[in-house]
Amino acid sequence: MLLLLALLPLSLFLSLCSAYTTLSDSTLKTLPGPGTDFDIRKGALLAPILRTRVSGTPGNAAVRQHFLDFFQTHLPSWNLELHNSTSKTPTSNGKEIEFVNLIATRDPPGSTPGEVARLALVAHYDSKLTPTGFIGATDSAAPCAMLLHAARTIDKALTKKWEAKAKESVDELQEQMGVQILLLDGEEAFKVWNAQDSLYGAKALASAWEHEYHPVMSTYRTPLDAISLFVLLDLLGAKAPNVPSYFKTTHWAYKHMANIEQRLRDLKQLKSSPNHPAKMAKRKNKKPRIEPNFLVDANKGEDGYTGGLIEDDHIPFMARGVEILHIIPSPFPRVWHEIDDDGEHLDTDTVEDWAKVVTAFAAEWMELEGFFEFEKHAERDVEEAATSGKTEL
Ligand SMILES: *[C@@H]1O[C@H](CO)[C@@H](O)[C@H](O)[C@H]1NC(C)=O
Ligand SMILES: [Zn+2]
Repeated sequence: MLLLLALLPLSLFLSLCSAYTTLSDSTLKTLPGPGTDFDIRKGALLAPILRTRVSGTPGNAAVRQHFLDFFQTHLPSWNLELHNSTSKTPTSNGKEIEFVNLIATRDPPGSTPGEVARLALVAHYDSKLTPTGFIGATDSAAPCAMLLHAARTIDKALTKKWEAKAKESVDELQEQMGVQILLLDGEEAFKVWNAQDSLYGAKALASAWEHEYHPVMSTYRTPLDAISLFVLLDLLGAKAPNVPSYFKTTHWAYKHMANIEQRLRDLKQLKSSPNHPAKMAKRKNKKPRIEPNFLVDANKGEDGYTGGLIEDDHIPFMARGVEILHIIPSPFPRVWHEIDDDGEHLDTDTVEDWAKVVTAFAAEWMELEGFFEFEKHAERDVEEAATSGKTEL
């Protein structure tokens, strides 16, 4: 009896906290990149977002429709929801402007609302009103495209994992995990950034979800409680980003992402690296070059968290207790809020690399190792490039 009592908490612990399994080298090497879908002119994922899309304008609606079409066509298992709110803005002359957040969710089949812990992957899709014609390629067209790529890359593996699980004996205590893409509207200020004039969509959604209750006795009381981690991407797509770890309580998650980045680097899978085989092939001196990481704070200590707060879409969620991983460079890209934050000024390799890092992070979080069925293209390409590099000399 004594023994049983002692063992019970341990077994509970083991089944509630399924171990975090890292992706294998072979999965990391075969994970598809976005390729031509991120072409700034014709790319199916990115090009339609590279336009002005100020909240409440036809451009904003067109980009939202692009997202809806993408999910409806390619990812029919995702549940789509629009969250609408209205607000006056300093430039709307007393008129109410509509803000429309898009929420795409994939939960395990047969799961109950309130029992699923979700990884939320977040970016804003509106663009800034000024300067006129502002595209906001890093802010945040490219991050939105990265999330679409991540969603489509993990989609089939999720299906396979859940099918495999359904065949096993059902473990009632096993934590159910889902994933959610939040494409938020109205992040930008219309006039001068302040608490009122900014984060329109995020504020409305966080406040709505705070009061939306799951059935009594649910594990997670509200959709906010159900977010296990809120990963916010912003201002990504410029060369050589320097992304610190902003929050002590999610540094462990930051370290997982930094580890993925390092492993992709070591496996020569990051195209922006000077040591990527395609780049090596083009230069005579084959001596490996120093390559700075995007995620620079993997080894940050407990007492390193003294910096100021960057105001972004996470704020209304963080204020309500949601755990945040903020993936935003510091300093901001040179083009930040300038007219030349456009497709032409994106560093395509860096955009693709981020897409891979974020996709791998989501795959690892969702415990998808063993459920991918990719062609071996990526691996072969790298090897071919390496070989051709040698023969060229
Ligand atoms: C939200 O706004 C969109 C775009 O204006 C509209 O198509 C949709 O019907 C609205 N949804 C609700 C629930 O009002
Ligand atoms: Zn901005």
